[in-house]
Amino acid sequence: MLKGRHLIDPMDFTTYELDEIFSLAEKIIEDEDRFKDACRGKLLATLFYEPSTRTRFSFEAAMLRLGGSVIGFSEPNSSSVAKGESIRDTIRTISCYADIAVMRHPKEGAPKLASMYSSIPVINAGDGGHQHPTQTLTDLLTIKCLKGQFSNLTIGLCGDLKFGRTVHSLIKAMSRYENNRFILISPKELRVPDYIRKEVLDKKGIEYVEVEKLEEVIGELDILYMTRIQRERFFNEEEYLRLKDSYILDMEKVNRAKEDMIIMHPLPRVNEIDYEVDEDKRACYFKQAKYGMYVRMALIMKLLGVEENA
Ligand code: CP
Repeated sequence: MLKGRHLIDPMDFTTYELDEIFSLAEKIIEDEDRFKDACRGKLLATLFYEPSTRTRFSFEAAMLRLGGSVIGFSEPNSSSVAKGESIRDTIRTISCYADIAVMRHPKEGAPKLASMYSSIPVINAGDGGHQHPTQTLTDLLTIKCLKGQFSNLTIGLCGDLKFGRTVHSLIKAMSRYENNRFILISPKELRVPDYIRKEVLDKKGIEYVEVEKLEEVIGELDILYMTRIQRERFFNEEEYLRLKDSYILDMEKVNRAKEDMIIMHPLPRVNEIDYEVDEDKRACYFKQAKYGMYVRMALIMKLLGVEENA
């Protein structure tokens, strides 16, 4: 039962519960018009303490396409946060007005804290370098729709594997399915954190390798998940400048890949994927962004307990 629950960590839901969300998202994709009034009279609050394009707009579009309404801020200084109001008091207040809240915050654990003082479902829309569970839902729906399976896949994750919260969440999520293999492609400085290696991959006996050169492994991959080197997570600008162009995916590299490999990216990109790649049939990152809206429509309905035929 998902009604009334929070979504803070991608592992908060069982694979069975995820299947319920994906199954509803697929029904919405098939006949969106049937759901146009599903959330009529419901209000979504978007509390974004950090910039966003996809997550905020896709949540807002999702609620509006379900017939609901949206309030919120994308610039915390336009709210009483600027006067020093705590997360605890902000969410208690928002709970008086809205039916469901989405929060992005630069501090790890902020949405979890909000959920402890909220009387409405809170969805983590990204907390620092920690987790981004609805990006994981987006990624999983994309894989389901475009690869048709969650198991027996070789998944390459490339770029900033240290600070990339979408990478950590996706590794955790895909580790729950059978016989997946990970190829972790990054500079030494941006390798996945120890806890992912030890507590997720090693603990579950999952096969993985860590490499530095994308071109040497691209031919093995079923999925290539590119990520941005995130300037905002570096303490040292010099280090960022040295690493920022570590990987640039161009057609020369894509031509070495399997014909049915899919290229994913949570976006935004800076220059890690050449624009020429966008025209290749393997480039799926804008489709992925669209799946993100559909899966958020399904998530909102499930957390609000809205019936499919409402
Ligand atoms: N993928 C993602 O989280 O994008 P935004 O930062 O634009 O929301």
